[in-house]
Amino acid sequence: MCGIIGAIAKANVVPVLLEGLQRLEYRGYDSAGLVFTDYGLKRLRTAGRVHQLCKLVEQENAQGFAGIAHTRWATHGKPSEQNAHPHFSGGESRIAVVHNGIIENHESIRTFLKNHGYQFSSETDSEVIAHLIAFKLKEIPDFFKAVCLAVAELQGAYAIAVMEEAHPERIIVARHGAPLILGIGKDGNYVASDVSALLQVTRDVIYLEEGDIAELSNHSFHIVNCLHDQLGEPVNRIIHESHLSNEEIGLGSYAHYMQKEIFEQPSAVANTLEMISNTQSITPNLFGSEAGKIFLNTKQILILACGTSYHAGLVARYWLEKVAGIPCNVEIASEYRYRNPVSDPATLVVAISQSGETADTLAAMNYAKKLGHTYSLAICNVPESALIRQADLRFLTRAGPEIGVASTKAFTTQLASLLLLTITLAKMRHRLPAHDERQLILTLRHLPNALKQALKVEPLVKNWAQNFAQKRHALFLGRGVHYPIAMEGALKLKEISYIHAEAYAAGELKHGPLALIDDEMPVVAIAPSNQLLDKLKSNLQEVQARGGELYVFADADSQITPSEHLHVIRLTEYAGLLSPILHTIPLQLLAYHVALVKGTDVDKPRNLAKAVTVE
Ligand code: G6P
Repeated sequence: MCGIIGAIAKANVVPVLLEGLQRLEYRGYDSAGLVFTDYGLKRLRTAGRVHQLCKLVEQENAQGFAGIAHTRWATHGKPSEQNAHPHFSGGESRIAVVHNGIIENHESIRTFLKNHGYQFSSETDSEVIAHLIAFKLKEIPDFFKAVCLAVAELQGAYAIAVMEEAHPERIIVARHGAPLILGIGKDGNYVASDVSALLQVTRDVIYLEEGDIAELSNHSFHIVNCLHDQLGEPVNRIIHESHLSNEEIGLGSYAHYMQKEIFEQPSAVANTLEMISNTQSITPNLFGSEAGKIFLNTKQILILACGTSYHAGLVARYWLEKVAGIPCNVEIASEYRYRNPVSDPATLVVAISQSGETADTLAAMNYAKKLGHTYSLAICNVPESALIRQADLRFLTRAGPEIGVASTKAFTTQLASLLLLTITLAKMRHRLPAHDERQLILTLRHLPNALKQALKVEPLVKNWAQNFAQKRHALFLGRGVHYPIAMEGALKLKEISYIHAEAYAAGELKHGPLALIDDEMPVVAIAPSNQLLDKLKSNLQEVQARGGELYVFADADSQITPSEHLHVIRLTEYAGLLSPILHTIPLQLLAYHVALVKGTDVDKPRNLAKAVTVE
């Protein structure tokens, strides 16, 4: 979702801005733009892709020592050049703004500013920021202070970068509810929504905190925090050295990030589980130094998440209830935050998020706390994210940067972490004798290898892709812990191939979806050799009897025989608790190959964003 990059240096920064925008493309966007200093502030925008912006830059031979740039994911107003950022406020000294997030009180600010003669040229909420700063600048002729005063009136989530035509030797940035990171370079200073956009110029980064406002020049920076004082109190923030490698954020020999990330799963899971590579026993400390005490008092789990992370939570419920014997609820964060749920201090809130910046998940976790839940645990892939900072306990999945919008390796590493949580709680609740714990740890250690095996089905899955690419709908069936895996498979297919896909618990088939079955509706079934297989087989017969075309992912030893309208791909033998993780792989591959046949933009599917930092 919207990406910001800003740069101020002793050399031309326009190439840095463009490279930064390219690095931010994965977040999802539909238009792009930049301003740069060139005897004033010059602006270039496009209602298209960053490569189109690059062409404009080339045509204009754009160069400047400072600039701010943006990829926009439309919320208020359609994707168009006029709505693309940066937005200007005119007047004696033009002000340019880029913004990520949503200004919730934009309507009242807009009315106020219109009444004071300001003219708007876009439909965006973001434009009010530019005019509001211009308005404040009339009250207080100090640009930094004017930004502080304007920001104090904004409600909602934002990360912004601002420039003033009269003083192009500085960029002001502010963070509240959306990520913003400073890059401290030798010959300049930078700002971006994401570290990957900064690595081209520096590894020294500062993660701005809620309420921080910073001023950057080409040789210095200073930060204030405005949570308790509108004009800010100076703060020192630690400079971190980013260890992200170019290999981690590059494509390497892969055609798409999604493909790379699917095939990185064995190593991503191995990294996530590194701490158990030499141990026979798991301690709660894996989740934070207070975890032992907190887990002892935990009577119930409430999982909050969105999208793929929500599916990870649904799988975990089966494990937590079966293995650890602990009641578990899983809720879509955007629903939970607007309900009036009954709180219970002994319920541990587990927020799952790849990015750690998903607005709904953050809000739901904080809402749960406000309601009276005492403790929270974040399972997250981004160390300095808001979620990690705000939770009491934390577990970092070590999937590495996930760039493809459709989440893959983040999901399987989340599942691996949730299995660790299950084992920890089971043990603390005396449900797991030492021998069983050792066995489970051995099983988990085997997971990276098992994932490698599962990836070998790719050529078989690829053969199916052609059939799916012709269809407009698909149904995914699963039972028990594999039902959420069916949901994840359907989500993957719809996200990147735009085929309408729905998942059903196979037992529900006869309560509605059976009416949809005909030869135009491929039915994908996840059929592990577990205790529900016979039940599932009956469900599959119900489909066959109505002329449906079945695509079954079975285990090696399942007795499902392929026939004319029944296609079967076998994985290895039933993998017990690991089975849902392994059955995810062919579904990811299926979505990927169908998307390839359809020729969609696999890594940046239309209308979607990677980190959904707005509601
Ligand atoms: C977006 C992404 C999904 C992701 C979801 C939740 O919709 O496109 O891939 O599953 O957000 O994101 P999170 O970062 O909280 O896991």
